[in-house]
Amino acid sequence: MNSAFDRVLVTGVTGQVGRALIEQLGVHRCVAASRAVLPLDFPETIPHRLDYFRPRAIINAGAYTAVDQAESPDEAIFVKAINEESPAKMGQWCARNRVPLIHFSTDYVFDGSGDAPRTEESPTGPLNAYGLSKRAGEEAILASGCRALIFRTSWVYDHQGKNFFRTMLKLGAEREQLRVVGDQIGAPTFAPQLAHAAILALENALEIEEKTGQFPTGVYHLCHSGDTSWHGFAEEIFEGARERGIPLQVEEVKQIATAEYPTPARRPLNSRLDCSKADRVLGVRLPDWHLGLEECLDLWLEHHSRGDSTS
Ligand SMILES: NC(=O)c1ccc[n+]([C@@H]2O[C@H](COP(=O)([O-])OP(=O)(O)OC[C@H]3O[C@@H](n4cnc5c(N)ncnc54)[C@H](OP(=O)(O)O)[C@@H]3O)[C@@H](O)[C@H]2O)c1
Repeated sequence: MNSAFDRVLVTGVTGQVGRALIEQLGVHRCVAASRAVLPLDFPETIPHRLDYFRPRAIINAGAYTAVDQAESPDEAIFVKAINEESPAKMGQWCARNRVPLIHFSTDYVFDGSGDAPRTEESPTGPLNAYGLSKRAGEEAILASGCRALIFRTSWVYDHQGKNFFRTMLKLGAEREQLRVVGDQIGAPTFAPQLAHAAILALENALEIEEKTGQFPTGVYHLCHSGDTSWHGFAEEIFEGARERGIPLQVEEVKQIATAEYPTPARRPLNSRLDCSKADRVLGVRLPDWHLGLEECLDLWLEHHSRGDSTS
């Protein structure tokens, strides 16, 4: 493995993707930069702290991800600091120190019109404050001139943490009927498989650089293949849970329209991402989303039957 992996600074380590990154990279090789270690809401502190840790690579999985809360005017300063200004500082530090940066972005940079999958060249048009801040973060990193891989992903979930998968299992165990949005279409992405692909992509990018002298800096779409709606995802979660003998109360999952479930933040109806560039350039591709779900259900069951309080 490239020496860049000897000291990788990872942010967002209490989150879905960050936790998976640390698990896969191995704690001994990482600086696990929690909020206390690297407070992303204080961008001006970032360069000093990075000078102190001197990472050989940075993976920024930290973000302000509370999409609805981000709409509140009181939150604007934090959303900007965490999703735009801190990534900008990281990019500038990485450019000065010739350190590669991996950053995550989102399908919410798009307006969700039509039904065609978006490529990296498709025009952006965020519908909400979160999407706007994530787009600004991408632009700031690209403007810094650092060597960066920016992965736009979608609908991230895991067997632990706060996410749709876990919410469905909880509600499905309590209620007989559920109403789930059926007109937003995208690809659910299992955090550990995303983390794995991101690490592999960095390895491959460094190899490309060694061979060609050129690091393949850019934006890449990276989510599972295939697509579904939140309603379709919920149905599959329940089917997989039943197959594994997980007790459920739910008998009916009613499909509703986004308009019937108003939220503070508008969300794109079409979240399909064309991920062929990541496959072509970086040699990474995530399998069909059903495979991610199968693995997640197995892990959930394993942790649950052990009575693991974090699961
Ligand atoms: N979740 C999704 O559906 C989704 C979809 C598309 C793209 N993405 C992107 O994928 C990446 C990873 O998302 P995720 O789902 O793993 O996120 P997550 O589970 O919500 O975790 C977010 C992480 O960011 C950290 N963080 C938040 N504010 C911070 C601050 N002020 N200083 C330092 N750390 C802070 C959190 O730490 P605390 O625990 O201390 O708050 C947490 O570790 C993000 O860039 C996100 O925008 C996510």
